[in-house]
Amino acid sequence: MHPDTPRPFQITPGGALRGRITVPGDKSISHRAVMFGSLAVGESRVEGLLEGEDVLATAAAMQAMGATVKRDEDGVWRIHGVGVGGLLQPDRALEMGNSGTSTRLLMGLVASHPITATFTGDASLSRRPMARVIEPLSRMGADITASPGGRMPLMVRGLCPAVPIAYHLPVASAQVKSAVLLAGLNTPGITRVIEPVPTRDHSERMLRGFGAELTVEPGHYGAVISLTGEAELKPQHIVVPGDPSSAAFWTVAALVVPGSDLSIANVLLNPTRAGIYQALRMMGGDITVENEREVGGERVGDLRVRHSALTAIDVPPELAPSMIDEYPALFVAAAFAQGRTVARGAHELRVKESDRIATMATALGTAGVAVTEHEDGLTIQGTGGEPLPGGGRIATQLDHRIAMSMAVASLYATRPIMIDDVRPIATSYPDFLHTMTRLGASPTWLNA
Ligand code: S3P
Repeated sequence: MHPDTPRPFQITPGGALRGRITVPGDKSISHRAVMFGSLAVGESRVEGLLEGEDVLATAAAMQAMGATVKRDEDGVWRIHGVGVGGLLQPDRALEMGNSGTSTRLLMGLVASHPITATFTGDASLSRRPMARVIEPLSRMGADITASPGGRMPLMVRGLCPAVPIAYHLPVASAQVKSAVLLAGLNTPGITRVIEPVPTRDHSERMLRGFGAELTVEPGHYGAVISLTGEAELKPQHIVVPGDPSSAAFWTVAALVVPGSDLSIANVLLNPTRAGIYQALRMMGGDITVENEREVGGERVGDLRVRHSALTAIDVPPELAPSMIDEYPALFVAAAFAQGRTVARGAHELRVKESDRIATMATALGTAGVAVTEHEDGLTIQGTGGEPLPGGGRIATQLDHRIAMSMAVASLYATRPIMIDDVRPIATSYPDFLHTMTRLGASPTWLNA
């Protein structure tokens, strides 16, 4: 858990980024590995699990509902599941910290079990909208009492047996899709989700891997995902690939710091997560994939990234679902490009760990970048490869990706950029500053 007070820091750059690094396991896959392992009967083993606070919140919740989730000395996580339908009544509130994924997916699980669970979270999570999952889960029969505005803390009273629904996703959200599918696991009959715009498909891939009957077919309004309920999940051995969202920070860093030539090993290449790499290549980024292979049903490869003269683009809005978490990093790349980058159609950024449109507009403005804020994105005037002016103090708003993006921006800035709080980084990437140090930069701690 976080210490109570913010911990400000700044980065002293160390020049070109060179060599070979790895990034931690993918966050979305890690959450799902813990949840599905906890619902299988028998022992699942997970290698390369992301040991960030968000995933640990999921693990603690699954333990509170009866599963055994343990890390062995060899770093492998061993999970003994309770079986679909076997979740137990937790004897205290489920503390979700900063994690929207834990909250929304677990609400789905609880919704079709005969248990009641209260979900609490930090200040950032307590501001985020939960109505998007409350609505379909209520239709399946769950009784959900939320704080005003459909926020947390909230309580889910599951219904067993729940009612299967066919749910047309009103927002492009893998969390909403997954919440409904996870509720469908313990629901008799077929639960369907209709997805007009593709979003990350880890739930679908992994549920099939665990033995669930799940099909994806094209339909009139988009992909129709059908899950047969009262599923029996079989334990699995999962190897979690490196997180492309974490790799994006180093990719942007290597593209903008002159002289860089960096390899990032073992990165997940799933196309539903690859939008940032497409956008950076459109900007002229030299990013190649080596040693492409398949690990546990997912494509992975080693990225090689070389410093590049970036050119501004109009970011295609259709890339938004596949790079929704990477906009802060993309905005930093845009700040170094030649010309004016326009990123629109990313309204969902307003409801992430912070309002990422407003937070990044302020952060880049503070660091001397000319930024215009729109309702659904930003226009950013780049330096044309020159360092950012820097200076100022960045408000991270309890948002890990803001802290890491601005740490990357600091790697090529004339004056130091003070970042007000390091703590959120631990939610998704506890080793981030360690890797920064390995690459030659030096973090320093400042007075609060
Ligand atoms: C996630 C889905 C996305 C993403 C989040 C992880 C997931 O959220 O932003 O970091 O693991 O399903 P939305 O479904 O709200 O877009």
